[in-house]
Amino acid sequence: MSALGAIDTRPASKADIAREFGNARTTYDSASRLQRLMGDAMFERLQCQAGMAGCALDLGCGTGWYTRKLAGVGNFVSLTGMDLSSGMIEHASASAPNDIIWTVADAEAIPLPDQSCDLIFSNLMIQWSAAPVQVLRECRRVLRPGGTLVVSTLLDGTLRELDQAWQHADPGQNHINRFESEAALREAVSQELPGAEIETKTLRLPYASPLTLAAELKHLGAGYKDASRRRSMTAPGRLRAMCRHYPVEPDGGVVASYEAAWVFWSCRGNNHKAQIEKE
Ligand SMILES: C[S@@+](CC[C@H](N)C(=O)[O-])C[C@H]1O[C@@H](n2cnc3c(N)ncnc32)[C@H](O)[C@@H]1O
Repeated sequence: MSALGAIDTRPASKADIAREFGNARTTYDSASRLQRLMGDAMFERLQCQAGMAGCALDLGCGTGWYTRKLAGVGNFVSLTGMDLSSGMIEHASASAPNDIIWTVADAEAIPLPDQSCDLIFSNLMIQWSAAPVQVLRECRRVLRPGGTLVVSTLLDGTLRELDQAWQHADPGQNHINRFESEAALREAVSQELPGAEIETKTLRLPYASPLTLAAELKHLGAGYKDASRRRSMTAPGRLRAMCRHYPVEPDGGVVASYEAAWVFWSCRGNNHKAQIEKE
């Protein structure tokens, strides 16, 4: 699966993903309504269930919103904010306590030793990876026995109203990123994180208009990313046609649906070693 690549197109490169998130670093926090909803849900559960001590990693930390929040409530020996985008990391490190470690790195190859983390927090990053199983495997590798992993992601059906409106306005062309199915997520999780719990929920966020939604995606750096996208795909005529086909609510606004998923996992033993021995 690719969270990015459409059925008949090439997935976006990591360089494109890093650059576009980096370009959005100053607008991201003001547009991150969904990200805060999903991250806060994960954070609250974490505070109730897991120890906030030891070594912690915010994987795909973006502007560092949750890295700073973790620093505020935890008593960590070390806390690392890690992201693919150097722009995001520069921005995050500029306004954070000095003792947070900021690292530009790929979640598919986490540059930390085996069993070196007690907590991994990853909000809405994994859906950007073309290899989510590899990300989960890396999380398992760096978690210590007794450690906790919390991950949120978006599933197939996310932004379906926008997708359908674009299918009317520009048939046969992809205008939204692709998201994996719940079945694919469950399979990846059962393969890599034995005993993990998955929660899913449909979130419906209101917007004044489809253009407000499109602007929010742009401000997040989360617009459609695909190696083969056409420059003219959001030409004004097409945008107007998309708006005409977007379903309008009784109050005159519109709604965007997000299929949210959260994964909670406690590392019960030496899973990394066990897996290597099995292989
Ligand atoms: C939607 S933002 C979420 C940011 C942050 N976790 C939050 O809650 O606001 C996704 C972030 O994941 C980062 N990202 C995407 N692919 C990544 C990868 N392979 N490794 C590390 N970070 C990645 C992006 O650069 C971006 O900052």
